[in-house]
Amino acid sequence: MDSDRPLLVFDSGVGGLSVLAAIRRALPTAPIVYVADSGGFPYGTKSEAEIAARVPALLGRLVERYRPRLVVIACNTASTIALAAVRAALDLPIVGTVPAIRPAALVSKTRAIGVLGTDATVRQPYVDRLAAEFAADCVVIRHGSARLVDLAEASLRGDPGDPADYAAVMAGLFGQPGGDAIDTVVLACTHFPLVAAQLAAASPRPIGFVDGAEGIARRVGVLTQGQPWPAAPAAGVALFTSDADVGALAPALANRGLLRIERL
Ligand code: DGL
Repeated sequence: MDSDRPLLVFDSGVGGLSVLAAIRRALPTAPIVYVADSGGFPYGTKSEAEIAARVPALLGRLVERYRPRLVVIACNTASTIALAAVRAALDLPIVGTVPAIRPAALVSKTRAIGVLGTDATVRQPYVDRLAAEFAADCVVIRHGSARLVDLAEASLRGDPGDPADYAAVMAGLFGQPGGDAIDTVVLACTHFPLVAAQLAAASPRPIGFVDGAEGIARRVGVLTQGQPWPAAPAAGVALFTSDADVGALAPALANRGLLRIERL
């Protein structure tokens, strides 16, 4: 294994940066190619067929171009719909992101859990299975929000957003029958940890948030155990799949070590 072979971290937009942060803490010198599928964004309002057709083919092209040692699908929507197809199509380790219902069930005292994701994620049978397997004694209340994805994208571009918009998202969860008992919310879209502070401020009472980033970073560590890494971190690549203007994102990308912008 060549020490320069990167980890490829993939999302529809900036959400995967929440996962990248955890990976960087675990593997500080890992070469990174971060891919934002800006040409396909947003995923959460698309059909299963659209995601299933787009993601494996796109990742195939990216793997050819960058020869990564491992791919992280840092997107709940893409993972809950297309993870099996991507694994079948590509001959390298693929780490997916699935809603952190299991860790939430381990900490919830009220046994009422909220799952905040995209519309596409919260309707997946994958989520039903996670709830049945790991949170069978909990009430699991779901809410899909495309608005919150846009708020997170705007936030990384320096727009603080309107607290009323965050309150409206939280009301979509807590306003449902049984919602007043929720003590733990799964951030089941990788965009959402980027605005966890705003969500906490908009919450009707103190609650705990859970996401999958640390678990993913641990998994990447296990799968790359014993492999060589560069002695010092190199400039990471941020690749966008459209010509969209990403100038406003440059500081957020640079903060995360992504200094080279490329286009597909
Ligand atoms: N970040 C993605 C996720 O984890 C989806 C955002 C979107 O494109 O709708 O589900």
